[in-house]
Amino acid sequence: MQVLSGRLLQEYELARQESDRLFDILKPGTLYERPIAERHRVIFYLGHLDCFDFIHICQEGMGQKSLNGTFDSLFQAGIDPDSSQLPSDTPSDWPSLGTVQDYVQSCRRRVDQSMDEAPEDALQLALEHRLMHLETLAYMFHNFPYDRKRIADGQSSEAPSATKPGQLSEWRQIPAGNALLGRKKADGFGWDNEFDQHSVSVPAFSIQRFPVTNGQYLEFVKQGAPIPNFWIERNGNIFYRGMFNEIALPLDWPVYVTKREAEAYAQAHGFSVVSEAQYHRAAYGTNGPKSRTYPWGDSVPQASFGNFDFRRWDPEAVFAAPQGNSFFGVAQLVGNGWEWTSTPFQPFPGFVPRASYPGYSANFFDGEHFVMKGAASRTAARLTRSSFRNWFRRDYPYMYAKFRCVQN
Ligand code: AVJ
Ligand code: FE
Repeated sequence: MQVLSGRLLQEYELARQESDRLFDILKPGTLYERPIAERHRVIFYLGHLDCFDFIHICQEGMGQKSLNGTFDSLFQAGIDPDSSQLPSDTPSDWPSLGTVQDYVQSCRRRVDQSMDEAPEDALQLALEHRLMHLETLAYMFHNFPYDRKRIADGQSSEAPSATKPGQLSEWRQIPAGNALLGRKKADGFGWDNEFDQHSVSVPAFSIQRFPVTNGQYLEFVKQGAPIPNFWIERNGNIFYRGMFNEIALPLDWPVYVTKREAEAYAQAHGFSVVSEAQYHRAAYGTNGPKSRTYPWGDSVPQASFGNFDFRRWDPEAVFAAPQGNSFFGVAQLVGNGWEWTSTPFQPFPGFVPRASYPGYSANFFDGEHFVMKGAASRTAARLTRSSFRNWFRRDYPYMYAKFRCVQN
């Protein structure tokens, strides 16, 4: 029987504490509300995290019997409707808070009792699933009015740093070459959509050195584009809706937009949104045959490389963390907001759905979802590996998602 690494167990325990802290941000009574029309009420997620862990570690991983079949199916999976089929359940359709908390505790007890013999793959799956939800919950809670949230310790939006306007218009030439996408089976845990590793030949292109900023996007809005979800207009003034308070629009922060908004901006300027393969080339490519592990090189992720791993709730200036620049000098490809790509979410050659979770990716290979790369402030360091792929619908406005343009 394999022995699980102490580090993995510790990471899992920390993720549990982090998710408990996250729910604590909400004031009592808020758990039965729905901050995003396309998603479940918060109470679903309270049950979902530990239900998922119990199902994948104990049931799928070790063949144990269900604890509560009704709750297992109620909390097993979330929803992703298009805007024409929004959910219509009411708070009273959900079990009471006490019952859900009891269920969560019973799932945790069983998981803890099983830990010594749990398959490592199942534990990694549970850990990364919880880490992903630390982000999905953060962006969901972002949409609650401020009076539903307690201000987290020392966290509030900060004023923007000084701008360096000239630099914003810089572009970088990326010579033709191979982009390395995906992950090798031998490289350890990954989600089904990350496999297998393969290389794609990418013609030369140029790319914006920095993500498009609120300031740049404001010009587009002045020409008639609607304002993004993260902005709010009051008496003719535009403010930024930070996680815990509203601030004057920080002109040098990246603009968070939908894929449709990104596309419209790019088109209006005669540009395109970066493709998945171009992103890989700009982020990990070099002028030789070798690819980097991360944009900044081969060192493990750390604070000086970018805004990710839960240090902030909001973005920072596009000029921040220059140590994270790629070989070609492109800034913030990992951190400070996911990056929309123009590429529909599709399987890589040789895709095999994970037997214990066949719908994780395959349910979304429908041409309606688009690949996002990189990371945002609420993305765990573990998920910043180059092969990790995120995806959302083209008009989903809630994600911490920025963009940049290319010229082909
Ligand atoms: C990969 C972030 C698109 O949130 O819908 C969580 C992750 N899948 N539980 C999502 C996920 C099932 C997924 N994303
Ligand atoms: Fe989930």
